[in-house]
Amino acid sequence: MEYEIRSFGLETASDEDWEMFYEFTCKTARELYPDVPLEDLESYRNDMVSTLMFYDVNAYIVTKKDEPLKAIGWLRCTFIKEDAPSYSGNEDICQIHLTILDEYRQNGIARELLLTAYDQALEHNRTQFTGVLLNEAAREFLHQIGGKEALSFQDNHLNLNDVDWGMIQRWVNEGPRRSPTSSLIFYLSIPALILEQYCNLYTEVLNQAPRDELTTGDSVFTPEKWKKLEDQARKVGRTWITAIVKEQDGNISGLTEAIYEPSTPTIMYQELTGVQEKYRGRGLGKWLKGAMLLKIRNEFPEVETISTGTATSNESMLAINEKMGFHLKKEVYMFQVGLQKVKEYLESKQ
Ligand SMILES: CC(C)(COP(=O)(O)OP(=O)(O)OC[C@H]1O[C@@H](n2cnc3c(N)ncnc32)[C@H](O)[C@@H]1OP(=O)(O)O)[C@@H](O)C(=O)NCCC(=O)NCCS
Repeated sequence: MEYEIRSFGLETASDEDWEMFYEFTCKTARELYPDVPLEDLESYRNDMVSTLMFYDVNAYIVTKKDEPLKAIGWLRCTFIKEDAPSYSGNEDICQIHLTILDEYRQNGIARELLLTAYDQALEHNRTQFTGVLLNEAAREFLHQIGGKEALSFQDNHLNLNDVDWGMIQRWVNEGPRRSPTSSLIFYLSIPALILEQYCNLYTEVLNQAPRDELTTGDSVFTPEKWKKLEDQARKVGRTWITAIVKEQDGNISGLTEAIYEPSTPTIMYQELTGVQEKYRGRGLGKWLKGAMLLKIRNEFPEVETISTGTATSNESMLAINEKMGFHLKKEVYMFQVGLQKVKEYLESKQ
């Protein structure tokens, strides 16, 4: 089979190319999650282009020579920009997304794309590849290269019909009973007055979540970055709800956030939950997540499912999620492999 690999500029690709790529994404996503709705092309494109705020991206699309409008493979190499807040500690990393449509696997296309990624990584002075392994074939490929699954991650789902609402209400009642001087506040945008403090807590708790053997650096959030992310959310019509717990002295002790995408109205995404270390173990995590769940039920009646991602080793977060009724949807792995190993693998195949 003859195929062609060509560059896909996120900002310069034609509408036709984006439609082709989106169709490819839908097919590969359905292979993984047959029953999970996908955001529409416009939001998907907009979000992908917005990564250019903080990353340099080189993407490639693979088409069949005799069917130039059908994408059969995709590679995206992502490099954090030097002026991005999370640059330090991540400057060695080239993140890759490499997918081949199932009926075109075992044709050496992934190997050729890996060579492209290798060249790109060398050009950007990177020494490590990271990415997400989405299926067994990808795992097998990684093992052949000599890489490892560095972080196991659970994608967990909660069906709102399965929730014990009495228990959730008890969590929400117990929160202020156990911490009478604390208050829980919801925001659709983080107020400028607390933004710096919020970003500091967000950065702190996010980086306390386990990364297991992944040797990537911290993800850092600054007020400037936060405003850009909120602007992007507004642009695509995304509702980004945050709840914080505020202490009497003004300190923010905990946070949780959830995201509603208008193009996927039946699913909501529960994002980060974090409680500052000295306030843990007094029910703030349960108060925050319980209050968010009640808000979702009351304000987004179309939502049927909540989706959340948690490291398999994150016992405290999983304990809360299990009590809420979350169940395992899929276990995925983040991989890490050094460029040297990739070089040896590619040379052995020549
Ligand atoms: C996860 C986290 C938010 C929990 O906050 P918290 O305020 O301590 O949680 P709570 O006090 O409400 O505890 C909730 C339940 O978790 C359980 N739990 C807490 N720590 C636990 C641990 N180390 N192992 C197992 N279960 C644990 C408790 O059993 C508790 O239930 P119980 O009160 O009915 O016994 C907090 O540990 C944290 O901020 N971690 C770092 C950030 C993070 O990893 N976030 C998740 C990223 S996806």
